[in-house]
Amino acid sequence: MHIAIAFLGDTVGSVGRSAATAAARRLREQGVRLVIANGENARNGSGLSPDNLRELLRGGIDAVTLGDHWVKDRQIVPFIEDPTQPVLRPANLSPHAPGKRIVRIGLEGAPTLYVLTVLGRLFMPLPADSPFAAIDREISAIPERDAIVIVEIHAEATSEKQAVAWHCLRNWCRDDAPRVVAVLGTHTHVATADARLLDHVLAAQTDVGMCGPQRSVIGRDVSATLDAMVRQMPAPLEVASEDPRAQGAIVRIDTLMRRAAAIEPVDLSV
Ligand SMILES: [Fe+2]
Ligand SMILES: [Fe+2]
Repeated sequence: MHIAIAFLGDTVGSVGRSAATAAARRLREQGVRLVIANGENARNGSGLSPDNLRELLRGGIDAVTLGDHWVKDRQIVPFIEDPTQPVLRPANLSPHAPGKRIVRIGLEGAPTLYVLTVLGRLFMPLPADSPFAAIDREISAIPERDAIVIVEIHAEATSEKQAVAWHCLRNWCRDDAPRVVAVLGTHTHVATADARLLDHVLAAQTDVGMCGPQRSVIGRDVSATLDAMVRQMPAPLEVASEDPRAQGAIVRIDTLMRRAAAIEPVDLSV
């Protein structure tokens, strides 16, 4: 049996939240069972507020991940700590950082699914421990040996993101342990054209893109960004509004073999 799971890229501002929830509805109509979205930019471009989280969950998103902007709105912390809330922070932050590093999702008729996200360390502003060690630690602690895992790598460098995918293929595509079925990149807000199956078992895409205004500089207003970059005048970078699109990937999973059967990019005008 196959199930389809969608993973949507960084959700930017109210435009992105609307795009992600509209896409979730449409994807479900097409048979997608579960929709996960990165919400690190949901609060006006930076952070995730409790209201933003409620809006995404009400709108059909099943789980929300975060990245380097994970705590820009500190009010989200109790939700990340609450085991009943499907929102998590990167797994390789300081050991003293609060909140869940992994979430468990029960799917009827399918192996238990876990979702975790790790930060890259190349060209990233936030100090983080090894993403490779964090992946190994978190997956080793999963009690169900027959679980499946989706790993998000939230990072700037394409090299590091591809390395994380190959690391998961080497360490976590065995029959006697939880199996990683997908490694999906986020953070750059620009989708890469390399969605593929590694060794016919692991779905990988270096970056799945953004839910938000595409007439923008990675979600921000073009004029304001040009003022900041060309004239080097600091200015508030408002979230843009035109050409809202929802980008991500659909991963089709063979639940019997616990491996990815296909990966298809998502790029919906909403
Ligand atoms: Fe980010
Ligand atoms: Fe982002």
